[in-house]
Amino acid sequence: MSEQIKKPVGITETILRDAHQSLIATRMPTELMLPIVETMDKVGYHSVECWGGATFDASLRFLHEDPWDRLRKLRDGFKNTKLQMLLRGQNTLGYRHYADDVVAYFVQKSVANGIDIIRIFDCLNDLRNLKCSVDACNKEGAHAQIALSYTLGDAYTMDYWMNIAKEIEEMGAHSICIKDMAGLLVPYKAHELVSAMKSATKLPIQLHTHYTSGVASMTYLKAVEAGVDVIDTAISPFALGTSQPATEVMVETFKDTPYDTGLDQNLLSDIADYFRPYREECLANGLLDPKVMGVNIKTLLYQVPGGMLSNMVSQLKEQNAEDKYDDVLNEIPRVRKDFGEPPLVTPSSQIVGTQAVMNVLMGEPYKMATGQTKDLLSGKYGKTVKPFNAEVQKKVIGDDEIIECRPADLLPNELDKLEEEMKQWKQQDEDVLSYALFPQVAVDYFKYRQAQQEKVDMTQADTANGAYPV
Ligand code: CO
Repeated sequence: MSEQIKKPVGITETILRDAHQSLIATRMPTELMLPIVETMDKVGYHSVECWGGATFDASLRFLHEDPWDRLRKLRDGFKNTKLQMLLRGQNTLGYRHYADDVVAYFVQKSVANGIDIIRIFDCLNDLRNLKCSVDACNKEGAHAQIALSYTLGDAYTMDYWMNIAKEIEEMGAHSICIKDMAGLLVPYKAHELVSAMKSATKLPIQLHTHYTSGVASMTYLKAVEAGVDVIDTAISPFALGTSQPATEVMVETFKDTPYDTGLDQNLLSDIADYFRPYREECLANGLLDPKVMGVNIKTLLYQVPGGMLSNMVSQLKEQNAEDKYDDVLNEIPRVRKDFGEPPLVTPSSQIVGTQAVMNVLMGEPYKMATGQTKDLLSGKYGKTVKPFNAEVQKKVIGDDEIIECRPADLLPNELDKLEEEMKQWKQQDEDVLSYALFPQVAVDYFKYRQAQQEKVDMTQADTANGAYPV
């Protein structure tokens, strides 16, 4: 056999972030993660994605957990493995644009609490919205990875992807991720795209996709053959469907080839055994809906990411309008076109999805528009690759001002004001960031936290009284 150059492909495990975000609405609690961390730490992953995305919001809102505390606990457990997070550029993990001082502080605290690699993206691929996070990341000595939201459309040619890859290299990022949140990247296209981007940049390229449309593992195979450096996978009990290809399957696929990951199937099997009962529990209590587990070929047509599909289902359920599901799926591409063909990823996916639901339920497009639709059409999220539909823009924002510059240039620093607003709740530096991102939800959590602490104090006082009678 001829000597082949070895080029082991790296694996980023997503079970602690994207896999449960995609399949069970980000509801995995920290206590469920911790017992398996020691085993996961032995595997030798390129990284473990464990924070950011919706985990921050869901921790505070639904699990009554401090997301910073989760990060510190994971950091304590993962002694040898790089921890990775997903950051929405100027939105950080919230849903509006923050001033640069908040973004920089968020990056600083994420790194200080244990993050090694920050994957940063913008829902419009407007690189101006990533500059502040990349600079902050470099300042903190972390690895800045810029993720391009992959999408289809007239504007998204190979030249588009090659040029933007070059711009990313010039910005000082350490690597590029092709972020295919909807599972739109088909195998041979992936080969073409990775080859083109590899020829345009020296930066390592990572591929992130979802199984939604059923092609994901084949896409990884072709991308790896084209030289992609790292792929994102999920341990099998939380793989497939709207999640990632299964870790074990990809590891086996590349075994004894030049791309051999070198990961130990026995360790992976222990990890799968650990998560399997939780999968069964989620199926039994309805958190894991079998609907998201199949192949949804419509995603290729409608370009709807997994998370957006499940959000839409719950929005329609709330309105007792589940029968409108197909109408909404048809409305999405129309709204997307009106909005300048943005990729569909948080928050543009929510903006387009909610507006599509509204258009269908109201029976007339843009009869009502959400605040976020107004912001998008007035340029507050940045620049879309194509212009907005002028008629729709006029109907929604009227004579309001349109923004052309980097949106955050218009935002004065806001950290001091936020500190002032929340000082009565502050127990750690990071609390101001939780408050900045989700003001109401964070305050509810702070109240809950305080009540829990008071309860503990009371119990201790009772015990003390019992032990040392006054
Ligand atoms: Co994803």
